[in-house]
Amino acid sequence: MLREQALRQATRTLEAAGIDTPALDARLLLQQALGVSHASLIASAQAEMNPSQLNAFNTLITRRAAREPVSRILGSREFHGLNFTLAPDTLDPRADTETLVTAALTLAGGQQALRILDLGTGSGAIIVSLLHALPSAEGTATDISQGALDAARANAIMNGVSDRLELVQSDWFAQLHGKFDLIVSNPPYIPDQQVENLSPEVRLHDPHLALKGGPDGLAAYRVITQAAPAHLKPSGHMLFEIGQGQERDVAALLAASGFTNPTAMPSQQADLAGIIRVIVGRFPG
Ligand SMILES: C[S@@+](CC[C@H](N)C(=O)[O-])C[C@H]1O[C@@H](n2cnc3c(N)ncnc32)[C@H](O)[C@@H]1O
Repeated sequence: MLREQALRQATRTLEAAGIDTPALDARLLLQQALGVSHASLIASAQAEMNPSQLNAFNTLITRRAAREPVSRILGSREFHGLNFTLAPDTLDPRADTETLVTAALTLAGGQQALRILDLGTGSGAIIVSLLHALPSAEGTATDISQGALDAARANAIMNGVSDRLELVQSDWFAQLHGKFDLIVSNPPYIPDQQVENLSPEVRLHDPHLALKGGPDGLAAYRVITQAAPAHLKPSGHMLFEIGQGQERDVAALLAASGFTNPTAMPSQQADLAGIIRVIVGRFPG
């Protein structure tokens, strides 16, 4: 079978399985099965596939048809221009979360030598991206999951920032000492009872520890906002990613803990779908 024929057939299989982007996914998985770039695949669309290539491709398509995300099948994902390895214990970092990284970099302004804390680091996507963009900054990242911390370490090494990143297994702030200029967090924020309604890609493949935010989705925000002031330098900032419609509640929690004028970050306030994703509070000290 020719490569382009295999691609068409796989696209139809994924379409029938209800995949939103069947042609794109089939193409990415064919590249993976063949070990070739997009450009090389275009140039070799008429090449014959040998049986082992066809077999490898069919295996990947079967996994995708069973709703395993492409990033999980490939084992990695691009985030903020960097490559991140995924593990079963890490959330698959979302493009939406790049909004938080952009907001933090805007807030950092020209300052370089910042101490940054990332709570619930998962794959390390946020803190590794920040340290990569701010070569004089130092970071600490926590997660309650050791598997996530191992993946974050690997990603910090792969992206050349591991010498400036400390990783701590901790229940939010429990094992942390010291004060930071900037605290960032994308905590679990989905109300527990809604997790079962998520797409199979999320429900079956993202760790539930990374998703479940308690009965109203706000459990982690309550704990973090209460403890954050003790870990911020005067005029330090707390930045949260939030779920859809949580801006008022999270802003109220920040205000109750003494943060001044908690607000959606101007110009970075909407993610790719136009939903407010980032709330920032300044701690007066
Ligand atoms: C929504 S995921 C975010 C992961 C990553 N920061 C990202 O944006 O892709 C939330 C993370 O918080 C971690 N987590 C859940 N409960 C925690 C707790 N009590 N203390 C520390 N981390 C926790 C999860 O293991 C998960 O890695």
